[in-house]
Amino acid sequence: MKIVVIGTGYVGLVHAAVCSEFGYEVHGYDTDAGKVADFSSGRAELIEKHVNEPGLSSIIRETLGKYLFFTSDLEPVVEGADAIFLCLPTPPKLDGSTDLGIYKKSARHLAELLSGRKDKRRVTVINKSTVPIGTARMLEGILTQDGAENLGVCSNPEFLAEGTAVAQARVPDRVVVGCDHPEDFNILGRVYAQFRNHVRIKYIETTPETAEGIKYIANTMLLTYISFWNGVGAKLGEKIPNLDIDALRVGVTADDRISTWGSMVSNGAGGSCFGKDIRSLIYQMRGLGLDTKMLESSYEVNEHQKVYLIDRAINEAGFNFNNSSVAVLGLAFKQNTSDMRDASSIEVIEALLSKGVKKVKAYDPLANEAAKAVFTPANNVLFEKIEFLDSPKAAIEDTDALFISSDCDEFRGISATIEAKARPPYLVIDGRRMIPDYRELLEKGYSYLAVGSTALLP
Ligand code: UDX
Repeated sequence: MKIVVIGTGYVGLVHAAVCSEFGYEVHGYDTDAGKVADFSSGRAELIEKHVNEPGLSSIIRETLGKYLFFTSDLEPVVEGADAIFLCLPTPPKLDGSTDLGIYKKSARHLAELLSGRKDKRRVTVINKSTVPIGTARMLEGILTQDGAENLGVCSNPEFLAEGTAVAQARVPDRVVVGCDHPEDFNILGRVYAQFRNHVRIKYIETTPETAEGIKYIANTMLLTYISFWNGVGAKLGEKIPNLDIDALRVGVTADDRISTWGSMVSNGAGGSCFGKDIRSLIYQMRGLGLDTKMLESSYEVNEHQKVYLIDRAINEAGFNFNNSSVAVLGLAFKQNTSDMRDASSIEVIEALLSKGVKKVKAYDPLANEAAKAVFTPANNVLFEKIEFLDSPKAAIEDTDALFISSDCDEFRGISATIEAKARPPYLVIDGRRMIPDYRELLEKGYSYLAVGSTALLP
């Protein structure tokens, strides 16, 4: 089995590495020669510069040169390939639609190479990127335009969450394969041989359109579920003093049909997929003349959620941000990642600065460097007022309020640091309900305002 993975970003690199563990000959192709050199070195620090997933660099070190190869020359590796996976960026355009520019360019390049290949046996081209429903069929048109023969096009979306990608790729909850021809189902059946007939893994063979749709419905459903908790559960808890959102969550999710995942109320969900995919699906549905009210509400609730705690601090705690200093803990979109894409902290910090905050003291255990690239004065001159610190203690020192914007485990013990470094009535704005012992803070005269609860003032 010879596999080519086009695009060695987050999805492609994990896929290539895990396929190489199965003993297939896997070639990861990328146009970025620097990346190819870093991956080919097998050195953890060079690999992790690009994709930092637990367990990933050790797989690459084990299989490199034996089963796994990297290249920035596609032509030689396409020859004799059985399966070619496309794992390319599909960023959003301003109107929410999906930009397929890189994708189409890469497909045209592949079409040229496939039309000239000497080995005429079946080759299956599989899309793993999240693309609008109907893209696989369009891809088939591009790939055959130069006369390439005996090829099939499939959709095989990935569902990996950051931080657990390797574990999930090794044992996924489902494998979705959308093809038109039995030969292509067979080739993918060989790639994923260990997942077929697995007792816990659902192996779903369907049409390309259904496979593409499964990815969008899954991601928009997950975001809608989070928005339901944020837009309904949290909002009730913020108005009714005796309504305990944590007990409410446990009571509701005790029903096997209702998931615990997604019920953690927050100052908004971020990351590379949710916002982008819901906007793309809204765009696609509008194109079909369908009503999109439900998805628009999910999206809007999530956007509102990112900043509304700042208004609550003004209205309910009477806090004046003008000329104040605020610590922001948690910059990445969630714990255990340095990924800043669609992170709530971006909107939080922009809103704080627009309210006249004179200094933001920011800290994230993994994302400080990535955040510096986002918060550059070239993007917004006010970002000059941000200082990056290397500990929560240093961030909290000399500030008037704290905003917790992600769920890093180390923030659960933050009350001791608050007591040591900030004097009451210091305001704690908790966007993730990270402080279990907040009542002790209150007793000591601190103010506490959390998503899902009424403001608690001394
Ligand atoms: C997500 C999907 O889970 C994955 O299947 C898909 O392939 C890509 O998008 P990921 O972006 O890595 O994965 O993040 P995930 O762990 O799902 O969290 C997304 C956001 O929701 C984060 O900001 C997280 O903190 C937030 N979240 C999650 C909540 O606010 N509350 C919750 O209860 C769960």
